[in-house]
Amino acid sequence: LPRVFSGIQPTAGSFHLGNYLGALRNWITMQQTHDTFYCVVDLHSITVAKDPAELRSNTRYAAAQLLALGVDPDRSTLFVQSHVPEHTRLSWVLECLMGYGEAARMTQFKDKSSRQEEEHVSVGLFTYPALMAADILLYGTDAVPVGEDQRQHLELSRNLAQRFNSRFGTTFTVPDAHIPTDTARIFDLQDPGSKMSKSIPSGVVELMEDPKRTAKKIRSAVTDNEREIHYDPENKPGISNLLVIHSAMSGRSVADLESAYEGSGYGDLKKDIGQLVVDFATPFQAAVQGYLDDPAELDKILRRGAEHARGVASETVRKAYDRVGFLPPA
Ligand code: TYM
Repeated sequence: LPRVFSGIQPTAGSFHLGNYLGALRNWITMQQTHDTFYCVVDLHSITVAKDPAELRSNTRYAAAQLLALGVDPDRSTLFVQSHVPEHTRLSWVLECLMGYGEAARMTQFKDKSSRQEEEHVSVGLFTYPALMAADILLYGTDAVPVGEDQRQHLELSRNLAQRFNSRFGTTFTVPDAHIPTDTARIFDLQDPGSKMSKSIPSGVVELMEDPKRTAKKIRSAVTDNEREIHYDPENKPGISNLLVIHSAMSGRSVADLESAYEGSGYGDLKKDIGQLVVDFATPFQAAVQGYLDDPAELDKILRRGAEHARGVASETVRKAYDRVGFLPPA
């Protein structure tokens, strides 16, 4: 089976609708067709200062949410990044292959670093994409299910793999991004020009939040002054985003929805989306609680995942270190 790797940061609070529709939905379906490795990337998350106790509980919370969404530990290798030391061991080598200018061109770095004083921007935030490349390359990954915002990092991972292979001999599989066509970018409900993220609390639908809150956020989504419900991302970004969300949650095509809502108001559309999201979130939330209520079982799943991941990753590091010319330990 072709290999899949993907990762998600443990965030305070829950995953959001953008994470789910942009990436996690594909994590689940690809279990049918691929050998899947899924990772809670706690090392990446400390590129921005984190409270230790919160980080620990967010990591468990992230794993519980992945299981509740349908990551099946009997099919997938589910693990925590810091449990597999090979990630940092390979990352160093890739950092030494990555150009300074190349790293400086990453738009995520530019965005995140421009919001802070230079002294407060960590070097880890800068080298972040080398660690991400290590995550992917360690597992001989063929396909990486992510949202559109990770495309540039994926491209860099491909370049690093090719650079290593041409300098030291073929070692790494060059991975392909697997980005959905319709839901690659879910936009913020309050600012439909930006991607949905935690930065605007009223614009993000969190999967674990109170359903009443979700319905209210969708009701208050920014739209436009017209009345027609049709898909036109350029001129009607808010309504187009809502149509994409509806379509993804209901399984109906956007064209079908356009004709079904002909003559209806924006309020009707929003009410129906609220219901679709709540119908999805309610059983999901109960399932998450089930995993949180049994931390010993959760830890067992993560231990098993890390052991399996280490078996694969250590072989890759051994090979890569040898190619680079490191003297093998006697
Ligand atoms: P992260 O944790 O920010 O996001 C997890 C996944 O959600 C996708 N996503 C979105 N998709 C559509 N619309 C949105 N508004 C939206 N917001 C987030 C992201 O594209 C991502 O797929 N660097 C990664 C984590 C990572 C990783 C990896 C991913 C570390 N190592 C190796 C793949 C392979 C990140 O911070 O994702």
